[in-house]
Formats: sequence, C-alpha cells, structure tokens
Amino acid sequence: MLIGPMAVGKSAIGQQLAQQLGVRFVDTDAVIVAGHGSIAEIFAGRGEHAFREIEARTVADAVEEADGTPTVISLGGGAVLDSGTQQLIGRCTVVYLECDAETVADRIARNSGRPLLAGDAMGRWKAMFATRRPVYERLADITLDVRHGSIPELGGRLEAAL
Ligand code: S3P
Repeated sequence: MLIGPMAVGKSAIGQQLAQQLGVRFVDTDAVIVAGHGSIAEIFAGRGEHAFREIEARTVADAVEEADGTPTVISLGGGAVLDSGTQQLIGRCTVVYLECDAETVADRIARNSGRPLLAGDAMGRWKAMFATRRPVYERLADITLDVRHGSIPELGGRLEAAL
C-alpha cells in the first residue's frame, strides 16, 4: 500500500513495483474515476465530503479484494485522513513516499485535475503536506525517499526494502 502527498508518484511507482513483483496493481483514484467520473466533477458536483465517502469505500473494497491475493495498492493523498481507512491499512505493508515541494513543483504546477490545488497550488500543497505529514509518518512501515531516481530505480529500491 503506497501513501504520500499529491503528485509524489504513488501511481507510477506502484505500477512499477507491481510489474516487478508480478502482482495486481490497484490505483484507488483510478477506480473512483472509472465508477463515478472525474475527481474534479465529483468535487464540483457533490463536494469533498461525498468524495471522501466514495474514497473510503473504494479503499476498503481494495483491501478486501487483496486479502489472499498479493496486490500493490496506491491511495490518493488524502485517503489516510479517514479513521476507518487508518485501521484497515494496518493489515497492509504501508510504504510512505517521502518528498518535498521542490521535487514535485513541476507536477504541482501542471496540477492535472486536482481540485484541492486550484489557485495557489504550491501554497496549498505545502499547507496540506504540513498537516498530513505526521499521519503519513505514523502509518508508515517503510519510508522511501523519492526525491532522486527514475521510476525503475525507485521500484528497485522499494522492492529491496520490502
Ligand atoms: C487528493 C489527492 C488526489 C485525489 C484527490 C484528493 C488529496 O490523489 O485523490 O484530488 O486530498 O490529497 P493524488 O494523491 O494521486 O494526487
């Protein structure tokens, strides 16, 4: 299970790791989009609260389905704020992808469909990271510094750390 702030590369590194290990990969944001439409649309039409409910259900289903089937699951950056989700992911090996604002600045600036980064994207990212960071750190079994290295290199380092 990969956790960490927005735009840190949870999906790309998760996909890479799953390929290396030859196991299933589930990106919960992608599951949400497939079932409910784009994240921007969900936020705009139904609000963040509705998104969080959908997200918590999606994570619970993914953890349930992974029971007995080796799976790499990547979560959205805010999924770990839900207390039910925090309990559920205790059943998983949790990898926190650690980075800083500078590393993800380009991706944040492009902001591809992340409603919570509308406006001052960098300022919002930093503020969210400041409040969420202790949660990521508390839940992590493994912390992977993703500031340097290509996706395959990071996948290799993560596999070695598991
Ligand atoms: C969010 C992160 C996004 C997505 C949604 C909300 C957040 O996922 O779930 O826009 O609250 O941090 P990524 O972490 O994949 O960008």
